[in-house]
Amino acid sequence: MKKNVLTALGAIAAILVVAAIAVLPRLERLAPAPAAIGGPFSLTDHTGRAVTDQDFRGKPMLIYFGYAYCPDVCPTSLATMAAALDKLGPKADKLTPLFITVDPERDTVETIDDYVAAFHPRLVGLTGTPEQVAEVAKAYKVYYKKAPNPGGEGYTMDHSSVIYLMDAEGRFLTHFAHGTSPEAMAEGLAKHLD
Ligand code: NI
Repeated sequence: MKKNVLTALGAIAAILVVAAIAVLPRLERLAPAPAAIGGPFSLTDHTGRAVTDQDFRGKPMLIYFGYAYCPDVCPTSLATMAAALDKLGPKADKLTPLFITVDPERDTVETIDDYVAAFHPRLVGLTGTPEQVAEVAKAYKVYYKKAPNPGGEGYTMDHSSVIYLMDAEGRFLTHFAHGTSPEAMAEGLAKHLD
């Protein structure tokens, strides 16, 4: 009797396993794909030229969102990006490093021109109207918000600090978290540059 029950349970378990194996791949296909990062944008570069995402096709884009008045996080991230580019040597020419402001009110063409030059000669700065910036930030799932300046005058910007690597067609490849070392970033980038 006990043996029969065990045999029956064993058979049921086997059926469930077979059913699960058959059904799981279908469920996986039904699950929604993760929302894509990236998309079209229209902005103005640090030379004053109107550009769109299409102008950057053909080379992977390494993108950081921030603002020129940022006291510490942005300078650290951009310095890391610049150091990673230098470590890559000639390979770095195969990608375009971009800085996109989340503070269009203060980050004029002149401001970002000076700002990007302070980090790397190949760094492209992008600004735009508040609407254009809102659109690109939304496409890249970047959070930003004005915050009162604890030090006194003006304001600071709370913003997500992540560096995106997009492929030559503008599709998401990978990202680097704040605090990634230049060595790790150069290594991560090299995998996508041949
Ligand atoms: Ni910042």
